[in-house]
Parts: sequence; structure tokens; C-alpha cells
Amino acid sequence: MSRGILITFEGIDGCGKSLIMGMVRDWLADEGYPVLATLEPGGSEFGQAFRKMLLESSFGSLDAQTETLLFMVDRSRHVEEIIRPALLRGEIVLCDRYIDSTLAYQGGGRGLNQEQLRIMNDFAVKGVYPDLTLLLSLREELAASRLGDSKDRLEQESLEFFRRVAAVYAALAAAEPRRFRVIDAGAEPQQVFIQAQTQIRMVLPPRRG
Ligand SMILES: Nc1ncnc2c1ncn2[C@@H]1O[C@H](COP(=O)(O)OP(=O)(O)O)[C@@H](O)[C@H]1O
Ligand SMILES: [Mg+2]
Repeated sequence: MSRGILITFEGIDGCGKSLIMGMVRDWLADEGYPVLATLEPGGSEFGQAFRKMLLESSFGSLDAQTETLLFMVDRSRHVEEIIRPALLRGEIVLCDRYIDSTLAYQGGGRGLNQEQLRIMNDFAVKGVYPDLTLLLSLREELAASRLGDSKDRLEQESLEFFRRVAAVYAALAAAEPRRFRVIDAGAEPQQVFIQAQTQIRMVLPPRRG
């Protein structure tokens, strides 16, 4: 079976995931790797509606359980529609947020039970786990200052909320040092990118052709 590589990007809102992942995608494509960039929530066509429900401020405050279940439906479909097929084609899949976002945001941020969240993650991903997870680490105040004024529903959470999210991320990285690599996201974009490149090179397969 041809098997690609799944690399996930994690970290609090404003840490630079989208920017750095775009740079990584361009670099890998230039190098001739088959690369697919996707995101959660909303990475599948089916998931578009869920992204709206989860991020649009007009939905107000969802209860934490409903929020979690919406993320899970989105993830389950994302795996089947996008991620697993790409991995079977042997592609390098870059995913902006994945299972660890649930543990950090709904676990740390909302205070839900971590074990229950892990069981739901397992149920949703059906065996598709990241080969490498880059955690972009940045002080909460700095991340918030990067976001500016137009924030989505989750980005509008308090600094205290993001401190709890970041604490869980740090604990997850410490517990799984083989999968997680922590990157200093406070540096200039080019420097952050170089750190990501260094980590990704270690998991890249030999290039084809
Ligand atoms: N290393 C960096 N230094 C300065 N600004 C950055 C850096 N990384 C990202 N930014 C900027 O900060 C904002 C948030 O970055 P973004 O990639 O959208 O974060 P995320 O996807 O993690 O929420 C964007 O305007 C982006 O251009
Ligand atoms: Mg982003």
C-alpha cells in the first residue's frame, strides 16, 4: 500500500499556522513532492457548513458539547473525503489543525474531559494519525496582537482561555516528543519556516523521479 505522510500544524489562534503551512506547501511542491494542504474545520466540501456553524460569531455561544460534536462530524468526513484518499495516493498531507486542537481547545479551553475527547477523536479519525505535529509556540498576548480586529467566534475568546489552550498543547508535546516538534513562532516568518523545514526533512520520503 502506498502511504503518504500526514503533518499537522497546531497552536493558538494567531501563532502563524496558516502562513507557515502555506510556505511549507510551496516549498514541498517546488521540490517536486505531491502535496495536499487542507484545514479543520471545513476541509471537506461537506465540512463547509460545519466551519460556518463553528466559527461565525452570529451563532453566539454554543455549549461545549455541541461544539465538540460539530468538530467531530467535520473531522470524520474530512478524513474520509480528503485525508485518507490523499495518503493512499502517497501524498504529503498538510493539515491546519487536527485532533490535538480538540484536546487543547475543548479540553483545556472549555474544560471537557480529556479521556472522552480522546475516545471521540479515535472514533472520528478511524486510524489516521499524524506522523508529525508541529506546535507553533507563541505567547498569548503576541498571538492576540497579530490577529487584529476581525476575529471569528473562537478567536474572540479571552486571554485566560488561550492560556489554558496553550498549557494543554505544551503538555501534549511533552507527552509525545516523537510526534510533536515545538517551534518558536515568535521569530520572523522566514525563521519559523526554516525551523519547520528542519523538522519536516526528517520525515520526508526519498523523492520520486
Ligand atoms: N512569524 C510571524 N511574524 C510576524 N507576523 C506573523 C508571523 N506569522 C504569522 N504572522 C501574521 O500573523 C497573523 C496570524 O497568522 P496566521 O498564519 O493567520 O495564524 P493562525 O493561522 O495560526 O491563526 C497573520 O496576519 C500573519 O501574516
Ligand atoms: Mg489560520
